[in-house]
Amino acid sequence: MTKNTLIVGASGGIGRAVLENIKQSKKQEDVIYVASRKHLSIEDDSVISKQLDYSERSIKSLVSQIDNDKIKLDEVYICTGVLHDFEQQLSTLKPEKRLEDINVEAFERYFHINTIIPSLWLKYLVNTVSKNGSTIGIISARVGSISDNRLGGWYGYRSSKAALNMVIKTAAVEYARRASKTCLISYHPGTVDTGLSKPFQANVKPEKLFTAEFTAERFVNVCRTSNPEQSPRYVDYDGNAIPW
Ligand SMILES: NC(=O)c1ccc[n+]([C@@H]2O[C@H](COP(=O)([O-])OP(=O)(O)OC[C@H]3O[C@@H](n4cnc5c(N)ncnc54)[C@H](OP(=O)(O)O)[C@@H]3O)[C@@H](O)[C@H]2O)c1
Repeated sequence: MTKNTLIVGASGGIGRAVLENIKQSKKQEDVIYVASRKHLSIEDDSVISKQLDYSERSIKSLVSQIDNDKIKLDEVYICTGVLHDFEQQLSTLKPEKRLEDINVEAFERYFHINTIIPSLWLKYLVNTVSKNGSTIGIISARVGSISDNRLGGWYGYRSSKAALNMVIKTAAVEYARRASKTCLISYHPGTVDTGLSKPFQANVKPEKLFTAEFTAERFVNVCRTSNPEQSPRYVDYDGNAIPW
């Protein structure tokens, strides 16, 4: 059976590794759509790469292209998200340590990137996922758990991931009616050695700092072993449930 996949955020540490993982197991007739803000040159005819800015118009346009190609998606991996922008010369996004650090513009950016963009994918994909069974895995984070919050801090990131979880839970109710064989997954990858976690790795034990390749393998495996009856799942890299 053919397996059609969409990977969003394919230039990022985890997104790129998910693409490599999917490519390894793909059959000739399978189609992989890849979305990124960057232009990616991928030498593989069955990979359709689309550069987009994650505006609503660009998301709608890519999903329309998939519809026009008469493709239904079996697996979707949404790997976008932001914690800081330290790589930029004029960095404005920094996880808050205390209430006084809360900044309106930064808070809005966290919500736009971490909550609103994945919500738009859920909005446009509802009629494009396969009705025979499909999975949409969205990378959230354990810090988005309201009941698991002991450490505090990171107001914007934490809240944007908690809001993302709420969107996933709410969308699951509607997907159960409109695309009943779809499993929605809010996924925690652990601490992964990518640009996002780089500035915060100092206190992470080496065995708890995962490679992107290991992470992709676990993420794909959790998505492939989930079923619609479990939707929505909030799970970690071991497949263990996280309390919402
Ligand atoms: N690394 C960790 O330890 C860790 C832990 C828990 C959760 N996560 C989550 O895992 C996901 C992937 O993170 P990563 O570790 O792979 O980080 P990464 O290497 O920094 O990749 C982040 C991705 O997000 C997209 N992105 C970055 N800035 C953006 C912006 N301003 N607007 C729209 N999209 C933007 C990029 O997509 P393009 O391809 O479009 O450029 C990029 O692929 C995120 O949701 C993150 O919160 C990561």
